[in-house]
Amino acid sequence: MEIDRDGIAALFAARGRLAYDGEGITQWQHAWQCGELARRAGASPPLQLAAWLHDLGHLMTGLVDTPTLRGHDDRHEALAEQALQPLFGPAVARPVALHVQAKRYLVATRPGYRERLSADSVRSLALQGGPMTPQDCEEFAQQDHAQDALRLRAWDDLGKRPDWQPPPDAAAALRALMRAVSP
Ligand SMILES: [Fe+2]
Ligand SMILES: [Fe+2]
Repeated sequence: MEIDRDGIAALFAARGRLAYDGEGITQWQHAWQCGELARRAGASPPLQLAAWLHDLGHLMTGLVDTPTLRGHDDRHEALAEQALQPLFGPAVARPVALHVQAKRYLVATRPGYRERLSADSVRSLALQGGPMTPQDCEEFAQQDHAQDALRLRAWDDLGKRPDWQPPPDAAAALRALMRAVSP
């Protein structure tokens, strides 16, 4: 599925109000919260943009209610990577591609991480292959942008606050960030 910068903005405008996987917030809230957490953490513009757009694949498929409840993995990270690579290059596309694997890595390597995951994240973990084996962990960590994916994952886990709303200029901020990042 091909999409350009205007298409991304249009997808959020059309579907951003849809629910984010069983978390009591919208896709737009989650996207903005993750981007905002990345900005506050001093992340580079490409990594901020990756945080904003990491779940774009959910909007692209439209399977945005709670697909994991039906035992469905929509492979949203791969869909988003394909869309983002030609527009913004690997510094955006790869952390997005790896954000699901990053969860499997963190469950395997960080004591206590699994206990802090939301119910939907635990449910989707099984569909996504469960915790990584030690060898999978080693291979994961050696990939380009693996560390960025782990940072993104932390924002992904934190960006699920029902009480935290995007400001009115959030859509303009996303457009400006997209204009500032090129491959
Ligand atoms: Fe995701
Ligand atoms: Fe997410």
